[in-house]
Amino acid sequence: MRVIEEPDLELTARCVLVPTMGALHGGHGTLIEAAVRRAKIEGVPSAVSIFVNPKQFNEQADFDRYPNRMADDLAMCRDAGVDIVFNPAVEVVYPPDEDVTSGIVIPEIATEPGLEDLYRPGHFAGVCQVVSRLFDLCGASAAVFGEKDWQQLGCIRAMSKQQGRDLAIIPAQTVREESGLAMSSRNLNLSDEARAQAVGISRALFAASSVRIPEQGESLMREMLGSDGIEPEYAVIRDSETLMPLADMGRETHVPCRALIAANVGGVRLIDNVPWTPTAYA
Ligand code: PAF
Repeated sequence: MRVIEEPDLELTARCVLVPTMGALHGGHGTLIEAAVRRAKIEGVPSAVSIFVNPKQFNEQADFDRYPNRMADDLAMCRDAGVDIVFNPAVEVVYPPDEDVTSGIVIPEIATEPGLEDLYRPGHFAGVCQVVSRLFDLCGASAAVFGEKDWQQLGCIRAMSKQQGRDLAIIPAQTVREESGLAMSSRNLNLSDEARAQAVGISRALFAASSVRIPEQGESLMREMLGSDGIEPEYAVIRDSETLMPLADMGRETHVPCRALIAANVGGVRLIDNVPWTPTAYA
């Protein structure tokens, strides 16, 4: 495995990329496995980028305390059979004398749903910028992203399509701890107490996924979160593709949906989502 700080010929020629901000966990493990598998099939190198993108944080404090576990990250990539770890400095991603924002149109899913876009204004502009830049720097033929960040996945798909990139976006399922808590780098900042409380998020999502009427699913989630002492920023069931509210809430719906929650637990902001399968009802 090679660790590089500047893109080189092997990376820019073609690769299957997993963009990350480091502090890798089991969830990243599945993204990396998918990338290594795909890269072997394509006959190109697999690459993991590790770059904590300052432009996607809403608060400096959140950026400052983002966990750094480089030694563990490199060991994990090596064990997983990754060919290249790309660990660029800020000046490589955002050269002071270059406009790297041109050609980026922020898609509707990044601004319209009133979910992450509402609670983290500007976040997706930062994500789109860095991902677009990483795609350019790495010459990716495919890139793997986790379903836990469902709105991010939609943004990147839409952006990539708008840019006409010849690049496959591969989604990877959320990996959960035994308790049901979705794996996230932010879990490292949870106290034991907050970690136990945070399980309420996945519990509420899974409970809602067996309710067939969207508005009842939403009120069940709010009720369950409330009884766990969690006040969500949002706990909603939305069209899984556009993330817009279902036009016919409370009536029959056939579009694939997603139940999504964001909540602050013990000072740590967590997000999670599950598929919500619509079924016709009278
Ligand atoms: O999901 C993440 O870790 C980040 O948002 C990403 C895609 C690596 C961009 O910085």
